This record gives sequence, C-alpha cells and structure tokens, in this order.
Amino acid sequence: MERNVIPVSVARPSLAIPDRAGIDTTAPARDTRQRRLRDLRISVTDRCNFRCTYCMPKDVFNDDYPFLPRTELLTFDEIVRLATVFHSLGVEKIRLTGGEPLLRRNIDGLVRMLATALPGVDLTLTTNGSALAQRARALREAGLRRLTVSLDSLDDATFRAMNDVDFPVAKVLEAIDVAASEGLAPVKVNMVVKKGINDHEVVDMARRFKGAGHVVRFIEFMDVGATNGWRMDDVVPSAEIVRRINAALPCEPAQPNNPGEVARRWRYKDGSGEFGVISSVTEAFCHSCNRARLSTDGHVYTCLFADQGYDLKSLMRGGASDQDLRRAVAAIWGAREDRYSEIRTAETAARRPKVEMSFIGG
Ligand code: GTP
Ligand code: 5AD
Ligand code: SF4
Ligand code: SF4
Repeated sequence: MERNVIPVSVARPSLAIPDRAGIDTTAPARDTRQRRLRDLRISVTDRCNFRCTYCMPKDVFNDDYPFLPRTELLTFDEIVRLATVFHSLGVEKIRLTGGEPLLRRNIDGLVRMLATALPGVDLTLTTNGSALAQRARALREAGLRRLTVSLDSLDDATFRAMNDVDFPVAKVLEAIDVAASEGLAPVKVNMVVKKGINDHEVVDMARRFKGAGHVVRFIEFMDVGATNGWRMDDVVPSAEIVRRINAALPCEPAQPNNPGEVARRWRYKDGSGEFGVISSVTEAFCHSCNRARLSTDGHVYTCLFADQGYDLKSLMRGGASDQDLRRAVAAIWGAREDRYSEIRTAETAARRPKVEMSFIGG
C-alpha cells in the first residue's frame, strides 16, 4: 500500500512559540478551553524492537527509515530540566514512553534523576515488556512506582503476528509477573483491539488478569500517525467490549481516579478487580484532555494527532533561562485549542498529516 509517510522530525517545520510578553506563569497553566496542564508524556527514543502493525508497520519503519541521530535526542539533563519547568506549571504525572523506552541506554538513570528532582510526581512508564524482566528491579530501585505493559494477545501466534518480529508472548507474561513481584504495582496492561485480529480474545484477556491486581485497558484502534492504514471498520467500540465482558464477568462502572483520566473504569461485581476502556474514537475525551507531549527531539506537541510541535530544544540549547522556558511552555499551553478526536471524520483520518506515535509518545 502506498502511504503518506512523513518523517516529521525532518520534514515538518516547527511551530512558532506564541507571544510570551506578559504571560502568566503561575500553575496550573490553562488552555483556551480552560483545560489545565496536568500530565506530561516524554518520548525518550523513537526506536522500538517491535513492529506492531498499527504503530510501526515494517514496510515503513525499515532499514531506510530516518530515525533520529543521537545528537537530536534530548539528554537526560535536558529532560529533567524541561520536566521541572512543566512541573512548575502544574504537571503532576510524568510518563516515559517511546518507541520502546527500555531501549534508551541507562533509562533507570533517567528514572532516578526524575524521581530525585520531582519527588511528588507520579512517575510511570509504558513498555512493550520485551526487556522488562531483567530491568524491573533496577527501575523500582531507581524510583519507579508503577508501569504499563502493552499486550495485545495471549495467543502466541497472534501476539507474534501483531508485534511482527516474532516475539513470544510468554516472555511478556513473565515480565508482568516479575514487575509485580518487584513491587511495580498495579501493572496496567494495554490491549489495542482490532476487529478480526484480536477482538475475540477480549474476555480471555479480562479473565487472565482479573483477581491478579493488574488492570487491563482495552484501547480502540486509533488513526494516529500517517502509516497504519486505519479504517473505522477495524474499530471495536468500547461499548461492545464492555457488553462482551459483562456477559461473562458481570461488572459495573467505577468513578475516575484522576481528573481527565483517559480510561473509563469498570469494576467486577464480585470484587475481584477492575478493567478500563479507552474510547478515543467512539467517545472522545478531548474536553478534559490535560496532556502535553515532549517528543524525542525536544518538541512539545499539544495533541496526539498534531502534525507540528514547538521546538523547546533549540530554545534551551540557545541559552534560554528556566524562566524563559516557563514562559514558552505557558504560552504554548495558553494558546492550545486541540480537540482532534471530537472533530475526527473519515477525511481527517485519511488525509491530515500527523506525527507518528512512536516519535511523540503514545
Ligand atoms: P494511567 O494514569 O496509568 O491510567 O495512564 P494513562 O491514562 O496516561 O494511560 P496510558 O498512558 O497507558 O494511555 C493509554 C492509551 O490511551 C495510550 O497508549 C493511547 O493509546 C491512549 N491515549 C492516551 N492519551 C491520549 C490522548 O490524549 N488522546 C487520545 N486520543 N488517546 C490517548
Ligand atoms: N491505536 C491505539 N493504541 C495505540 N498504541 C499504539 N498505536 C496505537 C493505535 N494506532 C498504544 C500501544 C501502547 C501505547 C503506547 O499506545 O499499544 O499500549
Ligand atoms: Fe513499539 Fe509500542 Fe509501537 Fe508496538 S506499539 S511498535 S511496542 S512503540
Ligand atoms: Fe487530547 Fe488531542 Fe487526544 Fe483530544 S485527540 S484527547 S485533544 S490528545
């Protein structure tokens, strides 16, 4: 299939940072829709050892793909500096993502630096689990408290086909157990549901983790990026997922844990735990979206579906003070209008250029 591939780091110009004169830098920053800045997702590498078909399809992310050179990556000191700026404007939760964050050399060193600099922040990480069993203890000792593991299938053949690098599911299941036994709890398990590929496994997945203290979240397949061949026909609405689980394992809605939480929580009536659904396509949650994203190369994106970001790295490397950076972030957030999922149509999904999720951080 011919695809509209945009190696955004190379091809897309950065957005001009909005006027900073007289900007209010008291926390929490609020955007044009009065949504506060609360979460920061930091992509620490644009590389991954998996080639999930819905995220980094092999025919695009091949040997010729222009991954970022090392000099373009934010250093750990730069990441901590920017995270501190974001924290001063209201960020309470930081998630390290990728690509696959455990591929970044010495990632536990970064966790330690962030946990030390920002002790009150909810610091977490999303991983594909392939290298987690060996790293869980170091991450825990560095200050990580909990994490999320992506797991799309319990069936080995389906899992190998979805990661498209023939990675066995047993290793990820083992890593989840190791992470939990090291105290990284609760472990959240993210399953992207694609119709006809893995949706028949929804109830099995719920049953597998029910009672184990882990929380599975079923994610509607989204039109992120420009390469994953998204079609509405491949989406299984969350309402259908809840219906199927409820028929087998009776459940009821639960209150959100945090404002702006992306997952709707459901608890099993027998008291054996909960699961969540993330319905970005059929029930958009832009009205409460409090997330900023920092890409691997130091750009701020105010929406998962953005095609351009604001270049904080150049500002920082050009000698900006912390107060300059604070003003820049406050101005960027203050000008924010995004609500892509609420205005998504077949046309925007197909035509609009969008940054790849592996670069911006899921
Ligand atoms: P917890 O606080 O642990 O629940 O984490 P979270 O809500 O940040 O969840 P997580 O980072 O695991 O996000 C789960 C998935 O939801 C992501 O991988 C995306 O697929 C989707 N998602 C997260 N944030 C957004 C968002 O702002 N917009 C959209 N459309 N989807 C999102
Ligand atoms: N739709 C929904 N979720 C996605 N993820 C990656 N690509 C997509 C997509 N197209 C999820 C991954 C992982 C998280 C980082 O984002 O499964 O759990
Ligand atoms: Fe890698 Fe996660 Fe994307 Fe899969 S979804 S290719 S594991 S970054
Ligand atoms: Fe937030 Fe954009 Fe996702 Fe809407 S589509 S919830 S604005 S990241």
